[in-house]
Amino acid sequence: MEKRQELYAGKAKSVYATDDPDRLVLHFRDDTSAFDGERMESLARKGMVNNRFNAFIMGKLEEAGIPTHVEGLLSDTECLVKKLDMIPVECVVRNVAAGGLVKRLGVQEGQELTPPTFELFLKNDQLHDPMINESLAVTFGWATAEQLAEMKALTYRVNDVLKRLFADGGLLLVDYKLEFGLFNGQIVLGDEFSPDGCRLWDAETREKLDKDRFRQGLGGVIEAYEEVGRRIGVEFK
Ligand code: ADP
Ligand code: CDP
Repeated sequence: MEKRQELYAGKAKSVYATDDPDRLVLHFRDDTSAFDGERMESLARKGMVNNRFNAFIMGKLEEAGIPTHVEGLLSDTECLVKKLDMIPVECVVRNVAAGGLVKRLGVQEGQELTPPTFELFLKNDQLHDPMINESLAVTFGWATAEQLAEMKALTYRVNDVLKRLFADGGLLLVDYKLEFGLFNGQIVLGDEFSPDGCRLWDAETREKLDKDRFRQGLGGVIEAYEEVGRRIGVEFK
């Protein structure tokens, strides 16, 4: 496999073409952004940590029968993936109230959500990823009703697998965001699963061990990501 030209540089990752039209290289950079790119910082080791974290989680999901784009690690910061036709809709499941939900609805942070909630957001930085619903997604052609149903079912299956995995490491999976795409017509999980796109709290102390440490200026961001990884069995360098 040969890495070719850069196709896209996002806020945290760069995407490269390969000699295979169906494969891409994702390069996990040290760049960290919050508030739709308003705050950017480089955090040493972050690219390596998130790349290895993501490959580990995607492997666990594959084992559970959830189709993912990950084909394998190429280096500390690079991953070979299937090239997906990305669906511009973010799927969020919440087990515990935090972040945007608390702000929007004025509910108590830390409140257990039974059953877990499911929300859709349009992936659009300029519009600050507005909340949408199935009707809007279908009408504007972002996804079909069948695709949305499949995305929702897969997002909940991910919850079953990962809630248990993190609980075994003494961690509470508070919420997370997933992005899906199409590969030969099949819905496949893309992008990344790392502490950048989810909330993880220590189950006992409720200490925040995810990107909220960066958003809230708490420090020890990458140390927290590594601690989470270590507790679930991710191998870092
Ligand atoms: P953003 O675009 O939000 O700044 P990133 O810096 O993470 O995010 O950039 C990675 C980009 O690659 C995202 O736009 C994501 O949707 C896209 N992407 C992730 N996985 C795949 C894939 N398998 N195929 C095509 N695009 C992908
Ligand atoms: O955290 P924020 O207030 O931006 O939004 P949220 O709706 O509370 O986010 C729910 C979960 O999805 C959190 O774990 C976020 O980290 C994640 N998310 C993300 O990774 N990317 C987005 N564009 C939006 C949410």
